[in-house]
Amino acid sequence: MGRVAVVTGASSGIGAEIARLLAGRGDLCVLLARRADRLQALAEELGGEAEPCDVSDRAAVEAVAGRILERHPRIDVLVNNAGIPGRTSFLGGDPEVIERLIRINYLGGVWCLRAFLPGLQAAAPSDVVNVVSVSGVVAGPPSGPYSASKHAQLAFSRTVAAELRGQKIRVHTVKPGFTETEGFPQSWLPRPAKRLVIGPRDVAAHVLRSLEDGRGETTVPWYYGPLAALQDVMPNVFTRVLSRMPKAP
Ligand SMILES: NC(=O)c1ccc[n+]([C@@H]2O[C@H](COP(=O)([O-])OP(=O)(O)OC[C@H]3O[C@@H](n4cnc5c(N)ncnc54)[C@H](OP(=O)(O)O)[C@@H]3O)[C@@H](O)[C@H]2O)c1
Repeated sequence: MGRVAVVTGASSGIGAEIARLLAGRGDLCVLLARRADRLQALAEELGGEAEPCDVSDRAAVEAVAGRILERHPRIDVLVNNAGIPGRTSFLGGDPEVIERLIRINYLGGVWCLRAFLPGLQAAAPSDVVNVVSVSGVVAGPPSGPYSASKHAQLAFSRTVAAELRGQKIRVHTVKPGFTETEGFPQSWLPRPAKRLVIGPRDVAAHVLRSLEDGRGETTVPWYYGPLAALQDVMPNVFTRVLSRMPKAP
């Protein structure tokens, strides 16, 4: 029986590339995001299925998962990738944006995991990939509310990794650094930092390796790992340096 993979945020960027690589290894991909036309086009390209859905809407996620599980009672892979950027300030930023970041980037993955859990349990050994971010371990302006949503998502991912281990559901926590995509154009970065920017295909290839090698929590590219750990080691130095960063609107 062929593997079934559900990929959220598959209408562009990292999610679309992950779906392409999963389809390339023979998985049937069920694609979720809000833009139905983009999903449909990719579903046709990959021989997969499009299921338009806003992952921040818990009732919508439950309804769509119910329909998918009727067709596919076994879900081998769930990729929680849907997410939005947020260069805004806790202090003066739009409160709606601050709430939306939490509802999509953090709670979206929680609702999807809960809704697809029966399928993952039926297919065990099965896999969950949570696309977090280096921002899940580093926080500061100009994207504090985005970082907070990714810190919450990291806590979620680490917790369910422990909870699901006994059920043979492996959780892969992937923390990408700067990646050039539609939602996250990296043109704002100063020239030296531009060298660190990777492409969505690089992240997708890393996700596939993580699945194949059974790796738990990883950072891509790896060198962001030690850099990110520095904030824990020297938080006060970071505060002084980050206080000079450009202010978010
Ligand atoms: N690019 C980076 O530098 C970077 C670095 C670290 C981590 N990440 C993470 O990687 C993930 C993918 O981002 P990306 O860089 O590939 O950006 P992207 O090209 O903008 O893709 C984001 C995807 O999420 C979907 N999405 C957004 N809100 C949604 C919602 N409410 N419901 C369902 N789908 C939703 C979008 O589709 P629709 O608009 O059609 O809904 C789109 O398919 C995100 O979780 C992001 O935080 C990105």
